[in-house]
Amino acid sequence: MAQVFRAANMVRELEPEDIRVLIGIELGMRRFQFVPMDQISFYARVNKSETEFRLNKLHKLGILQRNSQLGYVGYQLISESYDVLALHTLVKRDVIIAVGGVLGRGKESDVYYAQLPSGEECALKIHRIGQTSFRKIRKLRNYIQGRRHISWLYVSRLSAESEYAALEKIAPLELQTPQPIGHNRHMVVMSLIDGKEISLIPHLENPEETLYKILEQVEVLFLQGKIIHCDLGEFNILMTESSEVRIIDWPQWESSDHPNAQSYLARDLTNINVYFQKNYHIGFDLEKMLDRLFGSDRSELEKY
Ligand SMILES: Nc1ncnc2c1ncn2[C@@H]1O[C@H](COP(=O)(O)OP(=O)(O)OP(=O)(O)O)[C@@H](O)[C@H]1O
Ligand SMILES: [Mg+2]
Repeated sequence: MAQVFRAANMVRELEPEDIRVLIGIELGMRRFQFVPMDQISFYARVNKSETEFRLNKLHKLGILQRNSQLGYVGYQLISESYDVLALHTLVKRDVIIAVGGVLGRGKESDVYYAQLPSGEECALKIHRIGQTSFRKIRKLRNYIQGRRHISWLYVSRLSAESEYAALEKIAPLELQTPQPIGHNRHMVVMSLIDGKEISLIPHLENPEETLYKILEQVEVLFLQGKIIHCDLGEFNILMTESSEVRIIDWPQWESSDHPNAQSYLARDLTNINVYFQKNYHIGFDLEKMLDRLFGSDRSELEKY
């Protein structure tokens, strides 16, 4: 059974003290790689013998990592217990009521169907940034610099928060990108897009029109939303039944006034250009588009 389903079952079965002890470990993990029992008891505000009992129970359930090689016995959350905490909060806050089947799998996330209290389906994206992959993420590297002990838990949460912030920024533009519904820890709940990655479509019916629609959205996102995707490509663009394009996967976004904005936008647009040139022998003038976008920005400034 997939990890998140086991976690969802546990949300139902665990008792409030179990959850408090998990939260105690989570808080302790800001300072410790493996959190000592008395610290867990302190953060959880659960007495020591009760804490010990809960720790043994949670360890037996297989959702805690124990280390006794440190001169003390320390505990760490694993990704499954982090899932338990995030799902517990999302359910408690009435954001979602159930988790369904697999919707998609990315390099650094698992995406599932979930159900809203209204009965409507939505997408639940679980950010899973591993020790090796998060170093590749330019944006997260800035947060990480200078910190001695960084947990995957922390970077996965930052990634989810970053994506949610982007969805909120984009929502008013009415581009039919996923609408933000809620988030907690490393999970983002958003509206479901009924579509397919363009990389999975063997032959687009009308590639010129698709390319035009993508460029139009990139322009609106940049000029009106002041946002650059920074990981744009054929894998992160879905196409709906009615041939509309929807840009997804936003954790790496940057603001249009970032000092490197021009190179980030150029990279996104180059990815699109290369894809369409390679597969459909069509393209667009990248320099012209950049001039237009940054040029129009400059003329805006000149008004003042
Ligand atoms: N809101 C959504 N509606 C429908 N399908 C979605 C939605 N969000 C994600 N998906 C599906 O899940 C897949 C993975 O999602 P996404 O691209 O956001 O994550 P990712 O590729 O892991 O991200 P990253 O680039 O950070 O590794 C998508 O390609 C898509 O098929
Ligand atoms: Mg993706």
